[in-house]
Amino acid sequence: MDGNFNENDLSRVVEADRANVWHHLIQHQPFFTGADPKIIIEGKGLRVWDQKGIEHIDAVSGGVWTVNVGYGRESMGDAVRDAIVKMNFFGGTVGSIPGALFAEKLLTKMPGLDRVYYANSGSEANEKAFKMVRQIAHKRYGGKKHKILYRDRDYHGTTIACLSAGGQDERNAQYGPYTPGFIRVPHCLEYRKHEQEGAPEQNYGEWAANQIEEIILREGPDTVGALCLEPITAGGGVIEAPEGYWPRVAEICKKYDILLHIDEVVCGVGRTGTWFGYQHYGIQPDMVTMAKGVASGYAAISCLATTEAVFDMFKDDTSDHLNYFRDISTFGGCTAGPAAALENMRIIEDENLLENTTAMGDYMLGKLGELKDKHAVIGDVRGKGLFLGAELVKDRESRDPADEKMVQAVVGDCMKQAVVIGATNRSLPGKNNTLCFSPALIATKDDIDQICAAVDGALTRVFG
Ligand SMILES: Cc1ncc(COP(=O)(O)O)c(C=O)c1O
Repeated sequence: MDGNFNENDLSRVVEADRANVWHHLIQHQPFFTGADPKIIIEGKGLRVWDQKGIEHIDAVSGGVWTVNVGYGRESMGDAVRDAIVKMNFFGGTVGSIPGALFAEKLLTKMPGLDRVYYANSGSEANEKAFKMVRQIAHKRYGGKKHKILYRDRDYHGTTIACLSAGGQDERNAQYGPYTPGFIRVPHCLEYRKHEQEGAPEQNYGEWAANQIEEIILREGPDTVGALCLEPITAGGGVIEAPEGYWPRVAEICKKYDILLHIDEVVCGVGRTGTWFGYQHYGIQPDMVTMAKGVASGYAAISCLATTEAVFDMFKDDTSDHLNYFRDISTFGGCTAGPAAALENMRIIEDENLLENTTAMGDYMLGKLGELKDKHAVIGDVRGKGLFLGAELVKDRESRDPADEKMVQAVVGDCMKQAVVIGATNRSLPGKNNTLCFSPALIATKDDIDQICAAVDGALTRVFG
């Protein structure tokens, strides 16, 4: 990218955007009182260029933890093009070459899981899982075991059913009433355990998992069909469960015959240095959903992987004319998605990106730790692989969250330095105070140094 744009053409694009496009997640009024919408027009590696030709380093992989293999990959474009020219679409009752081959390859990375159901987005994959839980409840338990547990601060998508499973009250606000049968369990953020009644000094992870059991007992185990959790909470503040949590969660699910659904929409396909986030914790889920990094944003694809046991429940009784998963998404599993996903996986393998993610994640965690030593406003640094967060507080003693406007000012200052970082935003009332980092898995030490230097400068300017 050389920054040589035709200014006239681009100003026309800006005006077309301002006049016609309704963007995701933002208030548009500023575009009518002087500000221009940002248009990203090109990307290469970790860099993107905007309409003014300004080169940015992207520390959040397309804003939302997605472009795992980086921008501008010709082989990804070729894979999509070749697939759609040969066969662009046929409905999902039949198979396709990329669909079959990607499912086969994906399952080699997920021992214990045996089937792949294709969809378009993370929300949609989660909806499929919820529908399966409900159908299993109807078929096997007279409809009773239909409740789905979800965790405070987790997010599972944008549809009404996904918001019903959403642990972020500010994100949910004004979109109710919600779907019945979704029950909240407490978060497991040790840094904020002082806000949780009864949380112990020692063995917090086990205690947090035991809170789930208490809710199951309160609801009645025969009414609970599934527990849906992010392996590491993303938009809720980059929260890795403390030691002792996951083994206890697995034990509880087994004890009460509850399906464990892990939402890998963010962590899936390399983000934390393993193929999937849950693989750090030695657990065996029954259902895993994934989306963003599956094809790094080169094509729309999401997947729900299940065990053979779950799959069997939808094929074991052919005398029942309703005993199969009666679900379709027109575009789910279209050839472009799995073709891009196959190439994405090849790149991660051939370029050793899991190893790079672990090494660069450790490096960045160290760098953020140095920033914590320097800036009292950083209360906690956490995460795994290239999926990291820094929680900002008014005061380390009280851990009161930093003013959200100042947190956003840090993001804005970085943007002025042409470094794109993220922060929890309008998700958790009063607690949108965590800076988020998720550069592409190809990040180098130089990239990380540049990102952290920008954050350092921004923290100094905003907080002194
Ligand atoms: C953990 C998690 N699950 C699900 C989703 C929803 O995915 P999508 O926006 O593709 O529907 C997201 C989106 O950010 C997410 O972070």
